[in-house]
Amino acid sequence: MTQDTLLARASHEEAGTRWWRDAVIYQVYVRSFADSDGDGVGDLPGIRSRLPYLAGLGVDALWLTPFYVSPMADFGYDVADYRDVDPLFGTLADARDLIADAHGHGLRIIVDVVPNHTSDKHAWFQAALAAAPGSPERARYIFRDGRGPEGTEPPNDWESVFGGPAWTRLPDGQWYLHLFASEQPDLNWENPEVHAEFADILTFWLDLGVDGFRVDVAHGMAKAPGLPDVGHANQVEMLGTAVLPYFDQDSVHDIHRAWRRLLDSYDGERIAVAEAWAPTPQRLAHYTRPDELHQAFNFHYLTAAWDADELRQVIEESLATAGEVGAPATWVLSNHDVKRHVTRYGDGEQGLRRARAAALLTLALPGSSYVYQGEELGLPEVLDLPEEFQQDPQRLRGEGAGRDGCRVPLPWDGEEPPFGFGAGAASWLPIPTAWRDLTVAAQTADPASILALYREALRIRRDHPSLSDGELRWEASPPGTLVFVRENGGRRLACAVNTGTRTARVPLNGTPLLASGPIHVAGGHAELPPDTALWWDAEEV
Ligand code: GLC
Repeated sequence: MTQDTLLARASHEEAGTRWWRDAVIYQVYVRSFADSDGDGVGDLPGIRSRLPYLAGLGVDALWLTPFYVSPMADFGYDVADYRDVDPLFGTLADARDLIADAHGHGLRIIVDVVPNHTSDKHAWFQAALAAAPGSPERARYIFRDGRGPEGTEPPNDWESVFGGPAWTRLPDGQWYLHLFASEQPDLNWENPEVHAEFADILTFWLDLGVDGFRVDVAHGMAKAPGLPDVGHANQVEMLGTAVLPYFDQDSVHDIHRAWRRLLDSYDGERIAVAEAWAPTPQRLAHYTRPDELHQAFNFHYLTAAWDADELRQVIEESLATAGEVGAPATWVLSNHDVKRHVTRYGDGEQGLRRARAAALLTLALPGSSYVYQGEELGLPEVLDLPEEFQQDPQRLRGEGAGRDGCRVPLPWDGEEPPFGFGAGAASWLPIPTAWRDLTVAAQTADPASILALYREALRIRRDHPSLSDGELRWEASPPGTLVFVRENGGRRLACAVNTGTRTARVPLNGTPLLASGPIHVAGGHAELPPDTALWWDAEEV
C-alpha cells in the first residue's frame, strides 16, 4: 500500500473520531533525541530514523520541540525564522519527509509554536532596533520609556521567569519587555500585524501537513492594559499560582478562539495544546472551552506529590474542570522544563518503582497522556552535569538549578557514551556511563524493564475498549491506595495503586493484566507492595 493510500485510509477512518481525546503523545526534545550527522546534537533525520521505535512503542502522536531557525539562546524557544528549519536540525525538506514518514507509521505530528516572543535576531526585532522610538517597527514589540528622572528605572516591576528584571534598556534610552531571556523580546499582541503574521505561520505548517501545535506560553500573549506593577518581588514564586498582569489574562482567550477557527478550517482534526501555567484547574479549563484550544497540559498533576490522597484530589478536580467545558483531561509527569519524575519521586530504586507505578496510573486515566522522551526508559535527572556543559539560560540568569539535567540525550544502544545517540564521539550534554543499563537495546532484551512495561501498557491501552475516552469510577480502598474502574463497550479495566509504605490488600475481581512490580494474588485479593500498581480485567461487581 502506498503512503498516500495509507494516509487517505487513516483520514477516512478517523474522520470525526476525535483522536486527540485519548491520544498518547510523545514529546521529542529534538536536540536530544537522535543525531544523524554526528555533530552531537539531535536532528530531524535522526527522529525519522527512529520512527519504527516510536511506532513500536505504541504512541499515537509526536510533539516536536522547536526546530526552527534560532540562535539557540533558549535552545530554539527563541525563533528567528518561523518558516524554516535551523541548519543544526536539518532542512525544510527533512521536515516534510519526517511528517510524511511519521504519517506512514500511523504517527501524527504536533509542532511547537512560540507566539509570546521572538528571538532578538528575528528580522522584526532587528528592524525595531534600527527604527526610532514610536515607529511602527517598535510597535510589534513592547517598548516603553523608563521611569525616574532620566528613565533609568524599568517601566514597571515585572520580573523575568528566568530571573532579573523583565526589561532591557537600549542605548537610545527605551526599554523592551522580555518575560524570559533578554534574547526573547515579547511580541505586542495588541498589534493586528502580529495576529496576521501568526495566522500565516500556522497556515504554513498546516499546509505542510502537521496535525497540530503545542502553544508555548499560551497564557502569556495578553498583558494587562497599562502594564501595571505586580507589587511583589520574587514573582517566580507566584507563577502558576496567581494571575499576574502578564500571565493568564482573560483577553488571551480571544487569540485562542481565532486560532481554533483557523484549525477548524482544515480537515483531519488538527489540534492545539496549551502550555499554560494557570493558577487553578478551573482557570486552566478556560483554555479548552469548546471554541478554544483542544487540550492544556495538566501541570497540577505533574506537581502533585506521590501520595494517594493528593493524586486523587488532583485527578478528580482535573476531570471535573475539563469535563465542565467538554475537553479531555491531560496527564503529564515530565517535560523538558522540569526535573524528571524518577528523581522527583525519590530517585534511585524508589524513584524508579514509583515511576513504573505512575505509568500505569497515568495511562489508565481518562483523557490524553503525554510521555516525555526517556521516561519510558526510566531516566533520572542528571544532577551532576559538569559545570562547563550547563547552558540553560534559566540557570545562567540565576533562576534555579537549570533544566539541562532533564535534557541529556537518549541512550539507544552500546556500552559506551554516547550510546548510539549519534555517530560522533560525544553528545552536546554528556550521557552518564551508568546509562549503559538503560539503553533502548538493553531494555528491549529485558522483559522486566520499564520500557517493556510501557510497551505492554500502551498495547493494552490501544486494545482495551475501556481505556478510550470515558468515565472513571472510584472504588473503596485501603488508606494510601487508589482503586478505580474504567468501563466501556461491555469491558472493564481496574487499576490499583499503592503509594503507601506498607503492603496493601485490594479485592481482585478478575484477571491480572499488568503489574508495575512483583505482586501476590490469592483468594480474590491482590497484595500490592509499596509503590506498586496493577491493572486487571475486572468482572462486574
Ligand atoms: C516554555 C518552554 C520553555 C521555554 C519557555 C520560553 O515554558 O517550555 O522551554 O524556555 O517557554 O519560550
